[in-house]
Amino acid sequence: MFAVLCGALLMLAFEPGAIAEQKFQYAIKEFSVPLDHFSFLSNESFSIRYLYNDSYVDKANSQSPIFFYTGNEGDIEWFAQNSGFIWELAAKLRALVVFAEHRYYGKSMPFGGDTFNTSKPEHLAYFTVEQTLEDYALLITFLRNGQQLPVVAFGGSYGGMLAAWFRMKYPHIVIGALAASAPILQFPGLTPCDIFEKITTSVFETAYNANCSANIGKSWKAIESLAATDAGKKQLGDMFHLCDPVKNGDDLNKFMDYLEEVYGNLAMVNYPYNSTFLAPLPAYPVRQFCYYLKDLQPNDTDLLASLASALGVYTNYTGASKCVDYKDSNSGANYDSRGWDIQTCNQMVMPFCANNSDTMYRTSTWDLKKFSEKCYTKFHLTPKPHDILLRYGGRNLEAASNIIFSNGLLDPWSGGGVLRAPNNQVHVIILPEGAHHLDLRQSHPSDPASVTDARKKEAAIIEQWIRDF
Ligand SMILES: *[C@@H]1O[C@H](CO)[C@@H](O)[C@H](O)[C@H]1NC(C)=O
Ligand SMILES: *[C@@H]1O[C@H](CO)[C@@H](O)[C@H](O)[C@H]1NC(C)=O
Ligand SMILES: *[C@@H]1O[C@H](CO)[C@@H](O)[C@H](O)[C@H]1NC(C)=O
Ligand SMILES: *[C@@H]1O[C@H](CO)[C@@H](O)[C@H](O)[C@H]1NC(C)=O
Ligand SMILES: *[C@@H]1O[C@H](CO)[C@@H](O)[C@H](O)[C@H]1NC(C)=O
Ligand SMILES: *[C@@H]1O[C@H](CO)[C@@H](O)[C@H](O)[C@H]1NC(C)=O
Ligand SMILES: *[C@@H]1O[C@H](CO)[C@@H](O)[C@H](O)[C@H]1NC(C)=O
Ligand SMILES: *[C@@H]1O[C@H](CO)[C@@H](O)[C@H](O)[C@H]1NC(C)=O
Repeated sequence: MFAVLCGALLMLAFEPGAIAEQKFQYAIKEFSVPLDHFSFLSNESFSIRYLYNDSYVDKANSQSPIFFYTGNEGDIEWFAQNSGFIWELAAKLRALVVFAEHRYYGKSMPFGGDTFNTSKPEHLAYFTVEQTLEDYALLITFLRNGQQLPVVAFGGSYGGMLAAWFRMKYPHIVIGALAASAPILQFPGLTPCDIFEKITTSVFETAYNANCSANIGKSWKAIESLAATDAGKKQLGDMFHLCDPVKNGDDLNKFMDYLEEVYGNLAMVNYPYNSTFLAPLPAYPVRQFCYYLKDLQPNDTDLLASLASALGVYTNYTGASKCVDYKDSNSGANYDSRGWDIQTCNQMVMPFCANNSDTMYRTSTWDLKKFSEKCYTKFHLTPKPHDILLRYGGRNLEAASNIIFSNGLLDPWSGGGVLRAPNNQVHVIILPEGAHHLDLRQSHPSDPASVTDARKKEAAIIEQWIRDF
């Protein structure tokens, strides 16, 4: 299976560029960066976008802090609207707020509309973590305009990984980083490949009752046996309201991949209130989903009918969805979902696997060779599975300082997170009831106490960094 960090299913919910909620305001600016920071032969450049709000800044303070969000895999406005904690803390500490867009996402395209042209694989050569961190370092240097200012990096998910790595590599530029739900250990040799699936399974097992994950675990065989005949394939399409009928084995696999992706996403955004982060969803969506699967279904037809109803919680909470587009996640002009796919094919090689005997997922193994071949066919890229380990050290974090790693234990990505502090300058904050970077979100009356406490601790640590500066 291929799990997504944040962006891949974004476009199922929103049209590109259309952000559902506009709670926070900012100016949208552009900053010119070198296409290739590491070459002295080329001086080509392009512009990345960033969001800018200086309304909180105390103009009398010559050392106002900068809160800098290290943008991740998607339109930066989407992250700005879903990271309310940063805005709340900026108001309190009177900081300049900047959200920087990651190159190759949103509107920060190095080659404009031609960026992902499959006949120009060379366009993808500058799509790396290191180039992106250089973009951010240059932007901050520009924003500081020669002054000494305390800059704090923030990020959630892959953005949290970037924030942590930014502090490790550029400690002279950022005084610290809040890395929320940042799975920097989800790489080969560092974390068992089935940990994501095991955590997701346990979330589904406990959300309503254990029949939920048991039903899902049995559903794969039921789907396959139904799809064995043409009449069954048609029935499957009707039952699940699929936009495209399941015509062959390839479609069937895509449909089952889609289901697995939805389960991971539901666990990630299992927030205590309704939200629109990956899709419009009710509060505690996994519980709602599992309500439809609360009875053990021995009859395959009944099982799949219940599963189809459950899936509606994710695909059709608004009641406005016409059909389920299980083929969409990597389609055509959808830049944001394509971006992450490309990154998994160069540096972000994250192994996934599962065993149906101890998870609700299909049994699958991690096969680097097969994965690499697919990457080459699709993008002409050859993954380097140990690149991130080489550059950022894996579990060897003893030299790091001023990083907060926060993880919700109900987040499937917490399995690849830093859960033990390597020293007393790196802080680990655990949110037992937290989903994917819940702490970065705006405060809400339904937040569990562990989230409110985590935000208080994070605020205190960040305030201390600024005071020490
Ligand atoms: C910055 O955010 C505040 C609070 O949301 C808002 O009142 C203000 O207009 C914003 N400033 C800019 C420049 O957008
Ligand atoms: C790149 O370098 C060439 C040769 O020095 C120069 O003519 C050109 O203006 C430069 N382009 C940019 C974008 O700086
Ligand atoms: C991709 O690049 C080729 C070669 O330059 C060009 O002919 C084609 O129109 C481009 N495709 C798109 C979709 O822009
Ligand atoms: C969430 O619930 C509130 C209160 O019930 C409602 O006003 C709001 O429209 C809902 N938002 C979404 C995104 O469903
Ligand atoms: C699971 O479903 C069966 C059959 O409907 C039911 O008897 C049982 O109570 C359920 N298990 C739990 C833990 O609720
Ligand atoms: C399963 O249930 C359906 C309708 O609920 C029924 O038509 C079918 O015969 C049942 N299949 C089995 C194997 O019991
Ligand atoms: C979504 O819900 C509406 C209203 O209940 C229904 O008409 C529609 O068929 C549903 N769409 C899907 C894909 O299930
Ligand atoms: C899955 O687990 C079963 C039971 O423990 C074991 O026999 C089987 O070899 C495992 N499959 C894989 C692919 O690891």
